[in-house]
Amino acid sequence: MNRWKKRTLSLFALVLATGATVLIFSLQPEIVPIAPPQASQFSAEQVARGKMLAALGDCSVCHTRAGGQRDAGGMMFETQFGTIYSSNITPDVETGIGNWSYPAFKRAMRYGINREGHYLYPAFPYTSFTIARDDDLQDLYAWLMTQPAVKNRPPRTELHFPFNIRQGMFAWNWLFLKPGPVPANPQQSEEWNRGAYLGEGLGHCSACHSPRNLAGAEKGGHHHLSGGNAEGWNVPALNARSPAPIPWNHQQLVQYMRQGYAPSHGVAAGPMAPVIAEGLSQLPDKDLQAIATWLASFQPSWPDHSSEVSRQAEQQMMLADSPGARQFAGSCMACHAQNTGPKLYGVRPSLMLNSNLYNDSPDNLIRVILDGIPHPATPALGSMPGFRYQLDDRQIAVLLNYLRTDLAQRASWPDLPHRVQLIRQQTEATP
Ligand code: HEC
Ligand code: HEC
Ligand code: HEC
Repeated sequence: MNRWKKRTLSLFALVLATGATVLIFSLQPEIVPIAPPQASQFSAEQVARGKMLAALGDCSVCHTRAGGQRDAGGMMFETQFGTIYSSNITPDVETGIGNWSYPAFKRAMRYGINREGHYLYPAFPYTSFTIARDDDLQDLYAWLMTQPAVKNRPPRTELHFPFNIRQGMFAWNWLFLKPGPVPANPQQSEEWNRGAYLGEGLGHCSACHSPRNLAGAEKGGHHHLSGGNAEGWNVPALNARSPAPIPWNHQQLVQYMRQGYAPSHGVAAGPMAPVIAEGLSQLPDKDLQAIATWLASFQPSWPDHSSEVSRQAEQQMMLADSPGARQFAGSCMACHAQNTGPKLYGVRPSLMLNSNLYNDSPDNLIRVILDGIPHPATPALGSMPGFRYQLDDRQIAVLLNYLRTDLAQRASWPDLPHRVQLIRQQTEATP
């Protein structure tokens, strides 16, 4: 055997050995099925605490298909790797998690591996859930196991090759998953640490509020909470890069999380609305206070000069006489005429302070104008009608340009009519 052949052979052996090692380490044992636990095994307090944690984790938001039964799975997630369906997490033995022991549940939440030993995809935000403490996971388990069992087998998830090989998540997890609780930050108060634990853990704020890399993992470091995308919506930054013209403060954050509305900012529409409706708004006050303390610490602490900004912008609005201003007067003013006149309907948020006007992307505004806000985060906000059939692409572009340049006083967004046309097409099918 000559030298080259020998070398090739040893290289081949090395590759095989590495492959075999990865395979052995990536194989996860099945955890034996159990008879579904009796409700009497859990205390009422434990179940009640678990219910709050499930609300914080938006479990039902993702695990309930439109028109389907609660937590029975089947909601569709379109990703660049293919379509993923959420699982049935009711305690049904055949199609749900009825025969999962607590260790099996904990392994799924902390390591993204299900009872059978299959790797789960990170559309399930286990990279955040992983920091939840054992006592909280136990309460969550108690709540899930005492809910009504629903028989429903969601469609099978089939990703494109090679992503359909779930084993591949072994490498992904090795790169991007930091499993287990994180130590408290000694520089910060107990309340701040509690807020970080809730928001970074079961609350998984960063799943939407952080950008992602090509492998679909959240970017960390200074990218953490610097804004992202969710279901075609632009998600604003929550860190120092927040586009809000007036920094978010503690009190405004609490109000936003409770009601879906903060007077110096605006409302939660799009994917943030269910996060508030089914999640944050259900939490006890001390938890919202803690999350607000954590988030407010990233914002510069200027005094709230929102009334001043509003007044200036209002004057701007009176003075402006352009096609956009006229369009706004005709279509929007009835409800969005700032602080003048009686409050006719809903909260009529002040648009000049809306973060979306100050964002690099006009997408959220286009979506709101096309389809309105049919499902308010909380009923008192009222709903907004859509203008899909009243305004054409050019009229919406003129309107957006007015909001951006006259109200927000920012450089206009490029190529607006095109963008409106594109989003109109993309959202045509959804009601
Ligand atoms: C952002 C959407 C989303 C949220 C929020 C979410 N899940 Fe899921 N979950 C999924 C998806 C999608 C899957 C399926 C992943 C796959 O097939 O790889 C899943 C899978 C699971 C599984 C594995 C089930 C099985 O049979 O393999 C469990 C357990 C689970 N989720 C529990 C929860 C709990 C508990 C919560 C709330 C604390 C929650 N999920 C919140 C999307 C979500
Ligand atoms: C499913 C995706 C998703 C998750 C999870 C999520 N958000 Fe949001 N969030 C959004 C979107 C989209 C918006 C923009 C809403 C709009 O303009 O109507 C938003 C807006 C916000 C805003 C307003 C920002 C601004 O400047 O206008 C705050 C505050 C906020 N979210 C806090 C949170 C917190 C706290 C959590 C975690 C407990 C969280 N979000 C989790 C999608 C999400
Ligand atoms: C019939 C009353 C009504 C009309 C007309 C109306 N709106 Fe609204 N709008 C509302 C209400 C109510 C909300 C808050 C709804 C909620 O959050 O549930 C809202 C919210 C908004 C938001 C905040 C969305 C977000 O994601 O932060 C924007 C932007 C907006 N409207 C723009 C417009 C524009 C532009 C027009 C004119 C083309 C218009 N509205 C016409 C009632 C109206």
